[in-house]
This record gives sequence, C-alpha cells and structure tokens, in this order.
Amino acid sequence: VAVDPFDLVVFGGTGDLAHRKLFPALFRRDHDGQLTDPTRVIGVSRKELDRDAFREEVREALTTFVPKSELDDAALKRFLDRLDYVTIDAVGDSGWDELKTLLAEGLDRVRAFYLATSPELFDAIAHNLKRHDLISGRTRVVLEKPLGKDLASAQEINAAVGEVLDESQIYRIDHYLGKETVQNLLALRFANVLFEPVWDSAHVDHVQITVAEKIGVGSRGGYYDTSGALRDMVQNHILQLLCLVAMEPPGELNADSLRDEKLKVLRALKPIDDATVRALTVRGQYRSGAVDGQSTPGYLEELGEGAESATETYVALKAEVRTWRWAGVPFYLRTGKRLPTQVSEIVIQFRETPLSIFGAAGGFLAPNRLVIRLQPDEGVKLYLMIKDPGPGGLRFREVPLNLSFADTFKARNPDAYERLLMDVIRGNQTLFMRRDEVEAAWVWADPILEAWSRLGQPPAAYTAGTWGPSAAVALIERDGRTWHEEAS
Ligand code: BG6
Repeated sequence: VAVDPFDLVVFGGTGDLAHRKLFPALFRRDHDGQLTDPTRVIGVSRKELDRDAFREEVREALTTFVPKSELDDAALKRFLDRLDYVTIDAVGDSGWDELKTLLAEGLDRVRAFYLATSPELFDAIAHNLKRHDLISGRTRVVLEKPLGKDLASAQEINAAVGEVLDESQIYRIDHYLGKETVQNLLALRFANVLFEPVWDSAHVDHVQITVAEKIGVGSRGGYYDTSGALRDMVQNHILQLLCLVAMEPPGELNADSLRDEKLKVLRALKPIDDATVRALTVRGQYRSGAVDGQSTPGYLEELGEGAESATETYVALKAEVRTWRWAGVPFYLRTGKRLPTQVSEIVIQFRETPLSIFGAAGGFLAPNRLVIRLQPDEGVKLYLMIKDPGPGGLRFREVPLNLSFADTFKARNPDAYERLLMDVIRGNQTLFMRRDEVEAAWVWADPILEAWSRLGQPPAAYTAGTWGPSAAVALIERDGRTWHEEAS
C-alpha cells in the first residue's frame, strides 16, 4: 500500500548503516511502488558534498548492497532523483538554515529525522531541530542503537530527547523487531490455539535463544570495543526476542499494549549480581582460527597492532523470568562473533512425557522441541516422536514437522528496515521500543557488567570457527541439557 509523500532526513547519511541498510530498504520500497511523489530523502552529515556527489555515493551503495536482479535503471533513477544532501554540523550552527529552507517545501508532509549517528550526538541534534523550528506535529525522530552504554547514559539520552519531543514522536529502533520471522512469533503464539496451553513452566523445560554470527568485528572495532556482546546484542535484540517468547498475550495489538507486556517481562528478569555472575554467565573473545575453511584473524589483531582488550565477543548466560508462567524455567541465551555458522534461532524445549507406556523396547522418547529459525532458512520446526515404519515393532524416531518459509512463500523476505521505515512514516510505534522498556533492559544488564568488571577476569579465549568457550557448554550441561545444534 502506497504511503503519503514524506520527507526523510538521514543524519549519518554518508555512514555505513545508511549505505548498507537504509538506502537499500528505501530503494526497495520505492521499487515496489510504496513511495509516492514528491517523497524526498535528504542525507545529512558533516562531509562537504553536493547533491550530485551524494547521489553518486548512494548509487554505488545500492549497486553494492542490492542484488543486480532487483536493480533496474528506471527504478534507480527514480530513487536517486528523490535524494538531496545538506552539510550540517550537528553540534554547531552551520547548515541548519539550509535544511530548513529545503524542508519548507514540504510543510504538509510527514517529516522524519533518522539519527543514524553516534548516540553522543542525539541530544545536540534533537535540540538543534527544536532551535531551528523543524519539529511539527507530523514530525518523527528515529533513534538508532546503541541507546547508551548503561542505564545512566540511556536515561540521559532519553531525557535530552524527551525535552524537545513527545514520546509518541520517538522511534527507538531494534531492527530485530522488523524481521519477518520475529513478527511471526506473534502469529505463532497468538494466531494459533495449539501452543498457548503448553506455553508455561508445566510443559516447557527450558528455552534457548542463539544468535550466532560468522563475521568478526572487522572495521567496527572502535565502537565494538567499548561495547561487547552483552551491550551489542543481548541488552537489545536478544532480550526483545525473549520478551516476545515470554510475554502474556496483549489485550490488543497496539503499540502500548504490546510494549506493556514486554516491559513486564523485562522487569521480571531475575537479577544477576556479584554472587551469581560466575555461575550464570560466560564471556569469551575469539582468537585467530578458520571460518568456512578461511583463516581469520583474532579479535585483538583486528583491533590493531599491540591492542589489548577485555571486551567479550561472545556471551552465554542463563536467565530467569520470575512470573507464575515461567518460574523455574531457564532461558539460556548465547551470542557470539566468529562462530562456525550464522544462525539465529529460538528453541522451546518441552518436558518429557509423564510416563512411557512403550517400555525399554520403545527406546528413548525425545521430548518435543519447537525450533523457530529466524535466519537464515527462516522457518519453524516442531520435533515430534513418530513410529519407525515397518513391521519390526514399536520403535520411535524424532522427526520434524518442517515449515520452511522459502518453500511456502515464493516472495522475497523483506529486510527488517523496509518494514520499520514504513512504520515510522505511517506512525506505527508497535515495533519500536518505548523509553521504559529500554531502561528496564539496562536495569538488568548493568549489574552483570558491573559484576564482570569487579571480578576483573578476562574473557575466555575461543578459536574462531568454534562454538565459543567450553565454559558455555558447561553452563548448560551442568543442568543436564545441551545446546541445540542442527546438522546443516
Ligand atoms: C547489530 C549489531 O545491532 O546487529 C551487530 O551491532 C550485529 O554487531 C548485527 O552484527 C546483527 O544483525 P543481523 O540482522 O545481521 O542479525
């Protein structure tokens, strides 16, 4: 469905996120006919560029990050014609008047400012928008992650931005919420009757959430080294996944009902502190190794010669949600860089049957397991026990009911940013994080970070291309359980 014309201003418009994700997403929406004239996309950064040079940069980005099969000359030209550029000093005064003049042409349109910059600039940019009278009733501001590095800095950002914008105008992005399969979690749980009755501690033994990446930190070392895996992936993406798994059914699907339920989960997370941090968390950092047969450097080498760092590139932990529904059910979470495969998945491991009527001959009855694969090979598998075919008696085998999205739907899976950008324009905050949610996630993450720093233990080394430190295996096996790993 086409959206009304809008003006989108991208701060950090020459940056990596804009090139890799935002412009390709907007191009695709345009290509599919969703953008209507005279929609404009205005890049902003400190860099001295004119409009033509900016268009050329974006053309290059699109030819790099959008597959050739989706690029045609007419669509490319139409999109590039929408682009404009203004050089602005985010913390100073220059450039703002020019932006104002440009935007004056579209006073009746939705106006969105996407802050794809370092969070240190959010305060200055928001206040400059206000000072230059660029905020109207139809203005929205998108904040890209990271939203702070701890509770205090997140609160500062939220307070600063809150001085000039109403919460209903603020869109805090967690791009995981824009992934098709993540939204499918809502469908799975609340558009089907099968799962909800067994979605609790009486039937679920434990939950696993894995976000494994093959890539290292590459050129992002400067940012990453101040962050680490807990801040970069767990505090936001993984906790959001956990919330969607663990939350109560919202009364309806509007932004606040959904976010109210997620917030309750975040607030119910059992604190991990100095006393429990050793038993419940594992940190790792990759050394050189090989991924897909290609040798890869270690984290410290990627940071630069002679670098020293105690930042974790891997984390595994055991979380607990203290609600009636989930009390006693461990949520094992893990994420890392330079692991053997790229896979994000959620595993709901059900309990064993109360009794086997088949005796020893039946063999082991593997408890049911629901695997929700977020990426790649998006789909859902429900592992069931079935009888081995043949006359040889009742012997059982675990077989998945396998729903592959690629096989079921022939359409391309849109990128998360396509959906989220259009939600901003439409004014739908459902898939964006509310202020209290972000802060509640930090309330849980802060004590872990503090306990690690007090403990002063360096992260355990793991070889690139392996599944992280052995302590992560011990973390779950100590409880008589194992990480779910599928033969690929
Ligand atoms: C980002 C993190 O938020 O998410 C990156 O900063 C990470 O470190 C990325 O690589 C993963 O996103 P995706 O969509 O590739 O799973």
